[in-house]
Amino acid sequence: MTYKIGLLGLGTVGGGVAQVLLDSEKRHPLLRWLSIAAVGVKDVSKPRPITLPAGILTTDLEAIVRHPDIDIVVEVLGGLEPARSLILTAIAQGKHIVTANKAVIARYGNEIFTAANAAGVYVMLEAAVAGGIPVIQPMKQSLGGNRIHTLTGILNGTTNYILTRMQQEKGEFDSILADAQRLGYAEADPSTDIDGLDAADKIAILASLAFNGRIKLDQVHCEGIRGVTAVDIAYAEKLGFVIKLLAIAHRDAHRGSDSLDVRVHPTLVPLDHPLAGVNGVYNAVLLEGEPLGQVMFYGPGAGAGPTASAVVADLINIAALLPMGKVNHPLLTCSHRHYCTIAPITQVMSRFYARLLAQDHPGVLGKLGTCFGNHGVSLESLVQIGVKENLAEIVVVTHQVREGEFRQAMKEIEHLHGVDHIPTVLRVLA
Ligand code: HSE
Repeated sequence: MTYKIGLLGLGTVGGGVAQVLLDSEKRHPLLRWLSIAAVGVKDVSKPRPITLPAGILTTDLEAIVRHPDIDIVVEVLGGLEPARSLILTAIAQGKHIVTANKAVIARYGNEIFTAANAAGVYVMLEAAVAGGIPVIQPMKQSLGGNRIHTLTGILNGTTNYILTRMQQEKGEFDSILADAQRLGYAEADPSTDIDGLDAADKIAILASLAFNGRIKLDQVHCEGIRGVTAVDIAYAEKLGFVIKLLAIAHRDAHRGSDSLDVRVHPTLVPLDHPLAGVNGVYNAVLLEGEPLGQVMFYGPGAGAGPTASAVVADLINIAALLPMGKVNHPLLTCSHRHYCTIAPITQVMSRFYARLLAQDHPGVLGKLGTCFGNHGVSLESLVQIGVKENLAEIVVVTHQVREGEFRQAMKEIEHLHGVDHIPTVLRVLA
């Protein structure tokens, strides 16, 4: 039995996938059922580190997704177009899809899964979130007995690498970003990673699985790490925290059982929290639910080998089911149709860290405390740490408060006599 694969893209990920498929010995026996029939690239003459069977490279990607002999299309092109259109054409031609494309799934999942369900084909995306870490299939299968309430992830290796280096070297964001770009850890245009957009795509996908509903990406609150400074990292450390870019999806029973908050933002994480020790380019996903409690997945979130591992796992799952014909296996398909209700960020409960610069005059701390109190913001600590440019540097950490109320207090504080400015406001993991 042989199932034919059309591979769209032969970059880092595509090359890794081809390498595994061409060398199946001592891997899962089902890999012997899979063969690469065609590989779509931009330039067939480009030198490549792998040797492919003769005659399978082509620049005609459209022909691959329409070819009657191809059973499964592996899309590892990245970007929105032509990836989305090629996926939809392949589905319409009755082909199963394996994709690593979080941007397409997070934006067009609705369209793609509706088409796939109608065509009776699978769309598999283990590689789209957290690279080599198996998290999509475990969520669909092994954790199905749980009622998940919180999902907290470090889902972007580039930002985790930058924040880890800022922490370890006490360095500033701009110089470490430039060095990360020079070393190949950050893209020449890094905004998708450092502005949190990549992590937002990934948490939207995970939230959709955890909470069984579709997520509108524009309702995912997203802040990146450009505003994180060495000063705040140092103060956070003194207070017992490390700063991480977290992607969070949470069902808040107090707001009503169907209301979620889904967000990406830099966050102070307590040093004894399981995610605090996830450093460098590594990713992790912490799932909390009932009856399991907590489970954490940890590993490499990108790269040829890890991403190929995830793509090939999806191929094995499909190969195992293909002899049964078009069955829409319930553990591999996506059946939910409704959209989850996402609460605006002003409704979300958080703890906050704020750093303020104020005149070193009698009564300033008192006025701050009163203003927070008037807005129902309870303080865990309020410390005047030192003096900078003749201004007192004050760091505040709050207890849990609704974000809207905290923001109201901060707006008033900004205009208090004696307060110069507020360089930083960050959330603190509860
Ligand atoms: N750019 C991503 C990251 C890897 O830095 O984690 C692919 O999802």
